[in-house]
Amino acid sequence: MSKQISVIGTGYVGLVTGTGLADFGNKVTCVDVDKTKIDMLNHGQIPIYEPGLKELVDKNVRERRLSFTSEIDTSIKEAEVVFIGVGTPSKENGEADLSYVEAVVESIAKNLDGYKVIVTKSTVPVGTNRWIKQAIIEKSGKDTFDIVSNPEFLREGSAVHDVFHPDRVVIGYESERAKEIIQDIYKALYIIETPFLFCNLETAELIKYASNAFLATKITFINQIANFCEAVGADVHKVAKGMGMDGRISPKFLHPGPGYGGSCFPKDTKALVDIGNKYNVDMSLVKEVVSSNERQKKRMVEKLERLVGGDLRGKKIGILGLAFKAETDDMRESPSVVVIYELLKRGAKVIAHDPQAIENAKVIFGDRIEYADSEYKVMSSSDAIMILTEWNQYRGLDLEMAKKLMKGNIILDTRNLIELQRAKELGIICEGVGRK
Ligand code: NAD
Ligand code: UDX
Repeated sequence: MSKQISVIGTGYVGLVTGTGLADFGNKVTCVDVDKTKIDMLNHGQIPIYEPGLKELVDKNVRERRLSFTSEIDTSIKEAEVVFIGVGTPSKENGEADLSYVEAVVESIAKNLDGYKVIVTKSTVPVGTNRWIKQAIIEKSGKDTFDIVSNPEFLREGSAVHDVFHPDRVVIGYESERAKEIIQDIYKALYIIETPFLFCNLETAELIKYASNAFLATKITFINQIANFCEAVGADVHKVAKGMGMDGRISPKFLHPGPGYGGSCFPKDTKALVDIGNKYNVDMSLVKEVVSSNERQKKRMVEKLERLVGGDLRGKKIGILGLAFKAETDDMRESPSVVVIYELLKRGAKVIAHDPQAIENAKVIFGDRIEYADSEYKVMSSSDAIMILTEWNQYRGLDLEMAKKLMKGNIILDTRNLIELQRAKELGIICEGVGRK
């Protein structure tokens, strides 16, 4: 039977999850405190760039399973299942900031009438779901609800695909009644035999952090190996391929680059170190991953500095790609932020292009850098180019045109998109990561 669901927080996760749950046949209201976002959605506009999302939102709105509101109280009252999908960013000290979750807990406690299942989708430190349960009981004086921890594993840029084809659905639960309701709302995935993993609340919370920290470690490992390859003249792609042929390793997440970024790996690795400290558990491996990733971003600037002859002062550097990965407009913790600030600090001027992230970049850099509406405009005024995001349109760069347009002849390709031999033939000095 279809359920009435309230998804609180309509960001990258809440909007995609809410729309997916509606497509599974449930009646979903997505709620946000950001009225501009809700207004846009109510006018058929999608506040983020996520391929395929608009079509799916339009379809579910048309079929009256999906709606948007900023009336949090009403939405909670009407719902049988309430998803918490608000942000849990990093504090200065790496700890997860739970203030948005706390605000939602207040709202839930205030509007609890009848039985409800409260589902935490936000990534929260171990122990948070138990705290949420206790806080709602204390604030509302009622225990007519169950708590479920249901961490999300979608990737930005392929979020719509991931919602319909997850590798697994993790459900931390305490009551059979809640388990059955969750199974019911995810019935569409059950039918296509998606693996479901049922466990206690703490296990579900830790699966999320352990998964992200493991993937971040894998990337950091290959980045260190890439640096090794440069020192000894090996090719990191062949090394990664050779490693990935071992089924125990797998070839995924072995692409070297300028360091991982995004709204999850950086904050979740730091939060895991912080949780480890609180429980007095050694998380030194993850701690080293965090520092090594910071060094990798700075290393890209040092590489460029060497390529331009040791002094970036007065040089104009063209940046291709600002988003933390392709197919998103998200700039959160993007390597481009560290790289650009470092370039400016070293006296360079910066002009940048990105197919989707320019508006978000303007909020960060303002008029400290120039923005271009095409990759070729960036080239025409640059002494050197740095490719930071693996957008498909940069894979197909017309190198002949690039050579003609560029003031200088240097490209630092931190995503290894360019064919080095072709660049060399054209007289372009091009370096990648982990290959010469
Ligand atoms: P986001 O910042 O894009 O969205 C959060 C939304 O919550 C914002 O629109 C904000 O206005 C809204 N909000 C804040 N307080 C609110 C309140 N009291 N009531 C209603 N709305 C409120 O964040 P996100 O990227 O969607 O991440 C959400 C959670 O999901 C985080 O815990 C994150 O770690 C986790 N997660 C994110 C991803 C991802 O790829 N972005 C993947 C898996 C898990
Ligand atoms: C990640 C997790 O993959 C997802 O399961 C979780 O729900 C949210 O965090 P996301 O941040 O959207 O997803 O993107 P992802 O594709 O994992 O990339 C994260 C960062 O790692 C990007 O900066 C990307 O460029 C980098 N990366 C990824 C590499 O440098 N090399 C790789 O091989 C893979």
